[in-house]
Amino acid sequence: MDDIRTVYWKDGKVSMIDQTRLPGSLEYVEYGDHDGVAGAIRTLVVRGAPAIGVAAAFGMALAAKNSAADAARGVLSDMDVARRTLAATRPTAINLVWALDRVYAAAGRESSAQKVRAAALDEALAMAEEDVATNRSMGRNGAALFGDGGTIMTHCNAGALATVGYGTALGVIRAVRESGRPVRVVATETRPVQQGSRLTAFELKHDGFDVSLIPDTAVGYSMAGGMIDGVVVGADRILRTGHVFNKIGTYQVATMAQRHSVPFYVAAPLSTFDMTSDPGDVTIEMRNAAELVGPEGRRTAPEGIGVINPAFDMTPPDLISAIITEAGVARPPYERSIAELFTANF
Ligand code: MRU
Repeated sequence: MDDIRTVYWKDGKVSMIDQTRLPGSLEYVEYGDHDGVAGAIRTLVVRGAPAIGVAAAFGMALAAKNSAADAARGVLSDMDVARRTLAATRPTAINLVWALDRVYAAAGRESSAQKVRAAALDEALAMAEEDVATNRSMGRNGAALFGDGGTIMTHCNAGALATVGYGTALGVIRAVRESGRPVRVVATETRPVQQGSRLTAFELKHDGFDVSLIPDTAVGYSMAGGMIDGVVVGADRILRTGHVFNKIGTYQVATMAQRHSVPFYVAAPLSTFDMTSDPGDVTIEMRNAAELVGPEGRRTAPEGIGVINPAFDMTPPDLISAIITEAGVARPPYERSIAELFTANF
């Protein structure tokens, strides 16, 4: 997907791949206002923490562009309304709030309505460019951990489709291949929304990788059978203690990896770190029952059944071999190594 951008600005609108249509068809949709972008984030047209962040940043640029105010303060006030709407779409990925605050702060430094509008768009465009550069650095840092290449398992989709381009966890896998080492990928299906089979398998197959799909229930089987040399996943939020919030099922994969002495790595940009929250402060998004029981007419469970459908879980630091960022690789104890990464980069 080197030639493809998941989210970008085009002719005064934000354009993005409609990920609900994959793998059947690769189609772009355009939004001309922040409410449209908020709807796209909520319904998973765009998903994955960094892609959500950049989409929301463009949503802020649209709010500034569409504001009828003729003074800086008025445009900023309209942007603040948009910021609240966009922030309420999904609660777990910290990149969303990080992106909204960054655009709002850049716009807030300007003194005229016109300059506020320009600053909002410039900041969002810069974030989109930075995302790809960040992922490439992360890829290089992470590839060093996979000395001989081998078979790498991943969960959910932390690829080009979850970012503007290249990917975080899949960026590491891309970098291993670019360094000339042989690499095979095992992708979990990632129930219930199937980001693994619909998106990761699509993306890697599109790019000519040797990729095999497994049901989530075959993680233990694959590791016990010696089929997996390492795991790399993305993250929606990482705490200063090294607790990682990522797609539901990540905790099970990490637990299995430890049991079978398979290294378990997390790849995420510094924008995914939340240096102030404790594990109990983080809201795990609960999604609707239809994702699990199927829509009317295609039900896979009886009418009236109770459903628990968390979108994310938390993997504790003792299950994580290393956390890969664009600024370097953090190793346990994470409280110290993460703090060092931040001290060196801010
Ligand atoms: O619900 P989703 O598809 O937005 O969840 C995505 C994930 O959990 C990804 O692993 C995470 O956002 C990292 S993407 C680089």
